[in-house]
Amino acid sequence: MSVHEAPGLYCWLPEYSVGHDVVDKQHQQIFTMINELHTAIPLHEEITIIKKVLEEMADYIEYHFDTEKSYLQEMPEFAGHEKLHWEFTQKTLQFATEYYRHPRKELLYDIVSFLAYWLKDHIKRIDIEQFRLYHQRQGATNQDASPPNGSMN
Ligand SMILES: [Fe+2]
Repeated sequence: MSVHEAPGLYCWLPEYSVGHDVVDKQHQQIFTMINELHTAIPLHEEITIIKKVLEEMADYIEYHFDTEKSYLQEMPEFAGHEKLHWEFTQKTLQFATEYYRHPRKELLYDIVSFLAYWLKDHIKRIDIEQFRLYHQRQGATNQDASPPNGSMN
């Protein structure tokens, strides 16, 4: 078994936490889906399986980007963040189109590596920082909204 074929190769680690349960769970789910794609590669003869896994993952990632947007869209930093999501989606689409045109295992391994690398790098460099700012602003807003004595009663 080559390193390519090791099961559970790509996993979410606590250091990837953005401090937001919903978003962390979605990131975990994306890692699970990358592993599913990885596991499906040896079943390469079944193009329909690969296609289904790829399409489900693309749908889920789109849904996940919408979730991040719902929390972060008011922040000025989010414009650049959204551009990165867009570039990622375009690159993934290019990969998928290339694969459907000329299906081969090597390309699928490249897709899996790209997805996993991009996700880890993006979470660590972008998501964690933006959610830190988001929590900071939420905290400031909640404090502003509190009565002067700090009690809600
Ligand atoms: Fe993001």
